[in-house]
Amino acid sequence: MKIGIVGCGFVGATAAYAMVMRGVGRKLVLVDVNRARARAEAADISHAVPFAHALEVVAGEYEDLEGASVVLVAAGVGQKPGETRLQLLERNAAIFKEVIPQVLRHAGDAVLLVASNPVDVLTHLAAYIAGELGIPSSRVVGSGTTLDTARFRSLLSSSLGIDPRHVHAYVLGEHGDSEVLGWSTVTVGGMPLDAFAHRKGASFPPGLIASIDHQVRHAAYEIISGKQATYYGIGSALANIVEVMVYDRRSILTVCTPLPEMEGVENVTIALPHLVGGRGVLETFPPALDHMEREALRNSARIVRNAIESINV
Ligand SMILES: NC(=O)c1ccc[n+]([C@@H]2O[C@H](COP(=O)([O-])OP(=O)(O)OC[C@H]3O[C@@H](n4cnc5c(N)ncnc54)[C@H](O)[C@@H]3O)[C@@H](O)[C@H]2O)c1
Repeated sequence: MKIGIVGCGFVGATAAYAMVMRGVGRKLVLVDVNRARARAEAADISHAVPFAHALEVVAGEYEDLEGASVVLVAAGVGQKPGETRLQLLERNAAIFKEVIPQVLRHAGDAVLLVASNPVDVLTHLAAYIAGELGIPSSRVVGSGTTLDTARFRSLLSSSLGIDPRHVHAYVLGEHGDSEVLGWSTVTVGGMPLDAFAHRKGASFPPGLIASIDHQVRHAAYEIISGKQATYYGIGSALANIVEVMVYDRRSILTVCTPLPEMEGVENVTIALPHLVGGRGVLETFPPALDHMEREALRNSARIVRNAIESINV
């Protein structure tokens, strides 16, 4: 099974490395406008193969994406000092208008997985471009809040002293400042959070809730201030999403894909729990949020919709 990766900087290359470590797919094709970078990353990652799984890792051109089942797009530029988020959006949107048609020309049957930021808006743009070629938006999936959801689960599980795999909790909305932590829908071991915490002799006073919220919402800022970029967490999250797609695992993930309407906001792309399989998003399961969370989700959807309108999609 072939997987393409377009943009092999920190995020794309780390995702490729994570796929080799997990044994996802059979062949990884790395494409980058900086061909020397793609060749160097492919060589470096392929040297890890003897210590992990038997994948072929090569650098290539767009035509080498032919037959890929999934193409991850992590091409983009970072924010320059003094640059607004909207200016960054304009620059990355210009890159997407160049990259996405080339991917689809050669890998029209692939599921597109978008990682570049702002991921919600760029996923919407990629789906718009794909739609003009008759490709359904369900086959264009952004990483959404999968990483934020993992951070939320991990903090809840350490507060409770249990394995995070038994915590069901979701972060919804924009992958960014307006994201919504769905506290009211958290379940642990089949019980609502408060009931489980009570049985366990634990509690979630307002101070702890605020601290977890802050840590989830500001994790990327703190990592970037210490090391300029985030890539291990997102690289692992992307490898997991690709694995779900390649093996049609039918997992519920907080990815993003265009929605006709969410909380009164039309034609918007924000993260919600989606059933994901080999053909992308199969179904959407909006959770039963409480009143304040719904208000926050509506606000988040409006923010993303305004950003989408700013690039005239
Ligand atoms: N979704 C998430 O949760 C998440 C997390 C971290 C980073 N990101 C985003 O991922 C993107 C990549 O981040 P990074 O740290 O790897 O950046 P990076 O600068 O290290 O890598 C970007 C790569 O894209 C390539 N590129 C630029 N223009 C291109 C084009 N036209 N065609 C092909 N390749 C092109 C560059 O040459 C570079 O190798 C950024 O937008 C970043 O904000 C997303």
